[in-house]
Amino acid sequence: MYTRPKKIGLITSGGDCPGMNSAIRAVVRTALYNGIEVLGFLKGYKGILEKYVIPLGTLEVSGIMQKGGTILQTARCPQFLEEEYQIKAAKNIKELKIDGMVVIGGEGSLKGAIALERQGIKCIGIPGSIDNDIPFTDMAIGVDTALNTILRAIDSIKDTASSHDRAFIIEVMGRHCGYLAVVAGITCGAEYTLIPESPINIEKIAQSLKKRYEEGRTNAIIIVAEGAGSANDVANQLKDKIGFEIRISVLGHIQRGGSPTAFDRLLASRLGRSAVELLIEGKHSVMVGLQNSKIIDTPLTDVATVKKKLDRDFLSLALMLGI
Ligand code: ADP
Ligand code: F6P
Repeated sequence: MYTRPKKIGLITSGGDCPGMNSAIRAVVRTALYNGIEVLGFLKGYKGILEKYVIPLGTLEVSGIMQKGGTILQTARCPQFLEEEYQIKAAKNIKELKIDGMVVIGGEGSLKGAIALERQGIKCIGIPGSIDNDIPFTDMAIGVDTALNTILRAIDSIKDTASSHDRAFIIEVMGRHCGYLAVVAGITCGAEYTLIPESPINIEKIAQSLKKRYEEGRTNAIIIVAEGAGSANDVANQLKDKIGFEIRISVLGHIQRGGSPTAFDRLLASRLGRSAVELLIEGKHSVMVGLQNSKIIDTPLTDVATVKKKLDRDFLSLALMLGI
């Protein structure tokens, strides 16, 4: 039987990403606008198990939109993979009289929401991860900001590369997914982009870089997604074969922080609003995502079973423009 939610709970979980705070703000303000109370659990699923809980009013979410990270903090919680702890988490949520949960996080966190649903907790997922590896959303929260951070870094590195006739091997994040690497490759003008989804012929790359060096190119940028190998390994394989002097740069966690872009703030605000409105409508067990500029909801079970594919057009564009 449908009852209008009176109180909802909220977590951010898994890896943090810029824009999570904008999503928190949108969830809280949409709920308050509709007369619904919001409780925030700190540190993701761990916070539900430990009952680290705070009330979220309009003041608590004031001035947070421009901040990276998450004011609710986040965590990885291996215990929550076990059913015993999923039952305990659901019990804690029910004791607090929470009628529905909003889970903001990556692929793993959204699977956690399915586990809560199995224990009778209504959940809505919001995709947040810089990797852009979550299906049924064109972009996850955080991807656009991470890309812009990567571009700023590579533009600076390129200045040094061309002043010194150097090749830079730049490692970017992306454990299983080359989206960040390929789009950064296209938009910063990299010569090569190495990603986990596509085979790498390092000898061919070496020969082509050598040819470019001999033709008078002043620099080369090679981007490596961490899932395709380390910058160090690639540098070792290219060493003494390409003419250019080689340097490496591992961008690391600077990619995950920083003030979110307008795109991420807007996306997070739209997704946060939609998550609460769906709970009000009585809908749950779905993730809200961006598809062709519209906010669309998809069953969490589909999100958990479908693997997002990298757009092959991006790959061919990176290759074509990198000659
Ligand atoms: P992300 O959400 O960024 O992908 P993780 O994969 O580390 O990050 O997942 C974050 C947390 O979500 C995990 O520490 C765990 O508590 C929970 N989680 C992940 N996978 C599952 C699963 N299959 N079932 C239940 N909970 C899960
Ligand atoms: O999934 C997001 C991500 O930033 C990946 O790109 C990266 O491999 C991983 O998280 C790093 O995780 P941690 O911060 O736990 O080292």
